[in-house]
Amino acid sequence: MSDLDPIQRSSQRQFDQQSQRYSQGHILADTADVAALVKRVPPLAGRRALDVAAGAGHTGLFLAAQGWQVTLADISSAMLERATEAASARGLSVFTRQHPAESLPYPDGSFDLVTCRVAAHHFSDVGAFVRESARVLVGGGSLAVIDGTVEDEQPEADSWIHSIEKLRDPSHHRFVNPRSWREHCQAAGLRVEYLALQPFLQPDLNWYFETAGTSAENRQAVLKLIESAPQSARDLFRLQTIDGKITWQWQRMSLLAIKPLA
Ligand SMILES: C[S@@+](CC[C@H](N)C(=O)[O-])C[C@H]1O[C@@H](n2cnc3c(N)ncnc32)[C@H](O)[C@@H]1O
Repeated sequence: MSDLDPIQRSSQRQFDQQSQRYSQGHILADTADVAALVKRVPPLAGRRALDVAAGAGHTGLFLAAQGWQVTLADISSAMLERATEAASARGLSVFTRQHPAESLPYPDGSFDLVTCRVAAHHFSDVGAFVRESARVLVGGGSLAVIDGTVEDEQPEADSWIHSIEKLRDPSHHRFVNPRSWREHCQAAGLRVEYLALQPFLQPDLNWYFETAGTSAENRQAVLKLIESAPQSARDLFRLQTIDGKITWQWQRMSLLAIKPLA
């Protein structure tokens, strides 16, 4: 993978360094959001799933436990090692591949389901990821995406959370708002069947700093931004301090899009 762009390289570096933080005990280990979205996937004869930006494997292993034949793909080799360890600890069999989300090394129509959870905000080109997902799906196949977002028409809150996330984790690129997700799907020939936003708790800013390995200087800068947060961001993200912990509620989007039958 020598031809990565600077945004992809930054993600690879970040997750190669921080992979140990994403295994059991991480908030992503709770896959209730995945279960709820996958219930909406229309049944097909095939059960081949590609989990893009699989991280430590929480989503892909949930699918494997449900009987899907799963390929876990990620840009970071260390994350794929964590996922492989988790698969063997659970007695699950999966394939792993290392590649970026924006360019999928599979023939057209290789999968019945493509999933991607809490990762697209790192991608350098979400449009390319959606196009590639559509290409590798069979007709009737599903793209299921879960990611942080900021609802449409909230530019001030959007810019605030973007500044926070950039400081906290330099590999954060951009949350994509629901309107843009719909546009990317439409441009790729996918029909959006379901799109909903749910609140999702960021439980403790210090835990969150540790997870990303945020520098001391950037932690201070984040705290300043929190002190001076505009009312729109306070309201939208329900920013508060609970038992001395700074918390907020992400806007988490679940999206299901279908590739029409030819
Ligand atoms: C928070 S983790 C993903 C969590 C995982 N999907 C789950 O459900 O537990 C984000 C992952 O995105 C991967 N990633 C970031 N940018 C990427 C890209 N452009 N292509 C592929 N993987 C990428 C990172 O290496 C990291 O493993």
